[in-house]
Formats: sequence, C-alpha cells, structure tokens
Amino acid sequence: MLKRIVDGLQIVALLAAAVFVVLLFANEPDSTPAAATTGKEVFTANCARCHGPDGEGGVGPRLAGTVVQEYPDIEDQAAVVRDGRGSMPSFANRLTPEQIQDVVAYTRKDLPSS
Ligand code: HEC
Repeated sequence: MLKRIVDGLQIVALLAAAVFVVLLFANEPDSTPAAATTGKEVFTANCARCHGPDGEGGVGPRLAGTVVQEYPDIEDQAAVVRDGRGSMPSFANRLTPEQIQDVVAYTRKDLPSS
C-alpha cells in the first residue's frame, strides 16, 4: 500500500518535471520578438518607422553614412540602441543582445550612404 503511494508520487514528480521542461522551452520564443533574424529585418521591424526605411532619417536622425563617423567604437552605438537616449526608445527589453549587434552592424555597413 505504502509502496503504491510512493510509486504514485514518483510518477507525479516525473510528470511535473516533464511539464516544467516543456514550459521552459515553450516560453523561450516569447522573449525574442517575431522572427526578426537578420540586421535588415530587425531594422525594418523596429527602426525604419523613425529612421526611415533606408536610414535616411525621419523622426529620428539620419543613420545612413553617418554612424561610423559619429561612433568610431561600435559599442557606443550599440549602447544608444540598448539604453535609448532622449526620444530614442531603449531596445534592451525588445531585442536580444545579438539582434542589437546585428542591427547596429547593418546600419554601419549596409545602409545606402547617399
Ligand atoms: C520612436 C522613434 C525611434 C525608433 C523606433 C528608433 N529610434 Fe533611434 N533615435 C530616435 C531619436 C529621436 C534619436 C535622437 C536621440 C537624441 O539624441 O535625442 C535616435 C537616435 C539614434 C541613434 C544615434 C544617432 C546619432 O546620430 O547619434 C542611433 C544609432 C539609433 N537611433 C539607432 C536606432 C536603431 C538601430 C533603432 C531600431 C532598433 C532605432 N534607432 C529605433 C528615434 C527612434
């Protein structure tokens, strides 16, 4: 009788552990917004509405062709995106550190400069 109860408890514990592991993985995608994977996709989804589709400027300043001179250290530019500044929103909670690196690299290398 007692053994049955112990067996039952073990099964419950195993099930609880399994549910925990499944939830752990099921929750993962929530912390990463949509399927924005490349720097260009991150830019189009998060930055273009203020900085223009080609980084030509709008509500936010022009980025195309200016950021490399303004931020010789890529880390300083990433910090603006991560922490925000003035009316530039912080993206620390909306983008992963990888996505911030990707989008910053994109604005430095791939935006048309004229
Ligand atoms: C709600 C509008 C808005 C969005 C969205 C936005 N920005 Fe900005 N951004 C601004 C504004 C406004 C500034 C100027 C901030 C200041 O210095 O007062 C700025 C400044 C910047 C700067 C500094 C430019 C400079 O010349 O010093 C960078 C780099 C930048 N944004 C990158 C990004 C990136 C990358 C994204 C997308 C992940 C993004 N921004 C999304 C409005 C926005």
